[in-house]
Amino acid sequence: MYAAFRSIGAYIPTKILTNADLEVMVDTTDEWITKRTGIKERRIAAKDETTSDMGMKAAEIAIQRSGLKKSQIDMLICATISPDYFCMPSTATIIATKLGLEKVTAFDVSAACTGFVYALSIAKAFIESGMKKNVLIIGAEKLSAITDYTDRGTCILFGDGAGAAVISATEDKKQAIIDIHTGSDGSFADLLMTPNGGSGSAHDELDREKASCFMKMKGNETFKVAVRTLTNDVVSILKENNIQSSEIKHFVPHQANYRIIKAVGDALALQDEQVVLTVEKYGNTSGASIPMAINDIYESGRLQEGDLMLLDAFGGGLTWGSALVPFAGIAHH
Ligand code: ACO
Repeated sequence: MYAAFRSIGAYIPTKILTNADLEVMVDTTDEWITKRTGIKERRIAAKDETTSDMGMKAAEIAIQRSGLKKSQIDMLICATISPDYFCMPSTATIIATKLGLEKVTAFDVSAACTGFVYALSIAKAFIESGMKKNVLIIGAEKLSAITDYTDRGTCILFGDGAGAAVISATEDKKQAIIDIHTGSDGSFADLLMTPNGGSGSAHDELDREKASCFMKMKGNETFKVAVRTLTNDVVSILKENNIQSSEIKHFVPHQANYRIIKAVGDALALQDEQVVLTVEKYGNTSGASIPMAINDIYESGRLQEGDLMLLDAFGGGLTWGSALVPFAGIAHH
C-alpha cells in the first residue's frame, strides 16, 4: 500500500495587515521589509476566530475536493504552534468535532514551520503500515496571537491562515509519495522560541503572571542555519531518489523569507516558474504556509494531476524537512 496526496484546501483570513500599517506600529519601513523579506502584506484572523475555526474551513474544502465522504477520514493531524488552548485539548480534536468526524484518531504535531511536513510523514507511515486509509492533515496558525507587535524583528514576518490535505491509501505506485525527510537539532532551540508560559519558565507565581506566549527570534542566525540546512536537505533528498531538479514541477518551500527561498532555489538551479511564492501576500504562516501555497497553485490552475512537488520546510526546534510528492488528485472509483 502507498500513500497518495489527494487533495488540498485552504482558508485565508480576510483582514490584511500591510507594511504601511506596520510602519505606524513599529520603527520600520515598507522598503526595509520588502528588501529583507519579500513580504508586502499578511492576513490576520478576526479577534474571535481561532486556529481550529480556520483549520476546519480549510479541511472542509480539502475533504470535498478529495471525493471522499467525511466518514471515510480515519485520522486527523493538526500541525500548529498557535493552538486554541495551551496544553489541552489539542486543536485537532476540536477541529474533528467541528467537522463532525466522530471518534476519529486526532492529535497535534509541534514542529513549528516544519509541522506540515512532519504531519505528512506520519500520515504516510500510518497508511503504508495499513493502520489508516484516509488521513486529513492540517496546518493552521493564528500567529497574530503569539506575536509581539512591539518587536519589529518578528512582527513584520508573521501572518494567519490554514491549509489542509487528504492523504489516502493507493495501490498505484505512480501516485505514491516518493520520500520524506524530517530532522531536528534542539541545540539551536534558543534561536526561535516562545520562552515563557511553559514548565521551562513558570517556576513561581511571578513568572506565571508574566507568562506570555510571544515568539522571540534571533533572526540573522536563524537565517544562516536555514539556508544551509534547507539546501543540504533538498540536495540529498533529490540525490537519494535519483531525481533531477528539472523534474520538479513545483518547488513549494516554507514561505519564511524570499531571500531564503531564492538561495535554496539557486542552489538547485531551479527556474523561476518552478518556485511557488506566496510570501509577498501571506508572510510567514508557519505550519500553514506550505499547504496554503499548494492551494494557491491548485486554485490558479497551475497544479495538475501527476505534477511532482518538492516540499521544503524549516522552523523552530530547530526542525526541518522535505518531501517528494506527486499530486494524485481526486480518487477515481
Ligand atoms: N525594520 C527596520 N529595521 C529592522 C527591522 C525592521 N522591521 N528589523 C530589524 N531591523 C534592523 C536591526 O535592528 C539591524 O539594525 P543594526 O544593523 O543597526 O543592528 C538591521 O536591521 C539588520 O538586522 P538583521 O536581523 O541582521 O537583518 P536580516 O537581514 O537578518 O533580516 C530577518 C532579518 C528578516 C528576520 C531575517 O533574519 C530572517 O528572515 N530570518 C529567518 C527567519 C526564519 O526563517 N525563521 C524560521 C521560520 S519561522 C518559525 O519557525 C515560526
